[in-house]
Amino acid sequence: MSRGFWAVVPAAGIGERMQSDRPKQYLQLEGKLVIEHTLQRLASHPEIKGIVIAVDQEDEWWPTVSIVISCPIYVVHGGKQRSHSVLNALGKLSTLVADDPWVLVHDAARPCLRQEDINKLLSALSKHDVGGLLGIPINDTVKRTSDDDVIIGTIERRNLWRASTPQMFRLALLKSALHTSRKQNITVTDEASAIEFVGLEPVMVEGHTDNIKITVSGDLALAQLFMQQQRGEG
Ligand code: C5P
Repeated sequence: MSRGFWAVVPAAGIGERMQSDRPKQYLQLEGKLVIEHTLQRLASHPEIKGIVIAVDQEDEWWPTVSIVISCPIYVVHGGKQRSHSVLNALGKLSTLVADDPWVLVHDAARPCLRQEDINKLLSALSKHDVGGLLGIPINDTVKRTSDDDVIIGTIERRNLWRASTPQMFRLALLKSALHTSRKQNITVTDEASAIEFVGLEPVMVEGHTDNIKITVSGDLALAQLFMQQQRGEG
């Protein structure tokens, strides 16, 4: 089996919660587009051989951006749900490789990903049978409520995590798990859920808390702060 690593970047969301005039990946952050940061951070990792990005079929922004990155990039159309976009990208990747590489699926909307976290994921998982993902332990007390916000329970927070990306699995396994979930009408919001659905056990790898997903407008200022902080460290 190949030791190669590829990245898949779902970027076909419209980012409704951002309430901006364009999808959030095309917003400016520290002098570049969000998507530019994301792609450059993946491409500049020496182990990443190439990137497949999924953009919306009607995306009028992507054709106007010129992004310089240091590895090959292939573009496919996204789907209705994130998992459909990922599946389309994996389909394209299958036509590009003769083996079964590891795939790191990373949200376009997470531009603060550290090289250090990619290294950590690769060294934790590249000999693993299944794969896994970056996540952050939950420190707050977690409540479950009814639909009208009445608390119906407190959830033990030990061993609870927020799942983030990259999520790293072998191409063939991930494709087949996503196909299975789709055929059975299971909504999966991350790759690990599909892998769990087919009965396997992905591993959680602790990442940095600054690997945020830009979702609402305040997140841009936060991402800017994190980037400045990272430059200060570096
Ligand atoms: O909407 P959310 O923030 O959860 O999206 C996470 C990532 O998945 C984003 O990078 C978004 O562009 C992508 N996505 C996609 N196709 C969809 C929906 C979301 O590629 N249909």
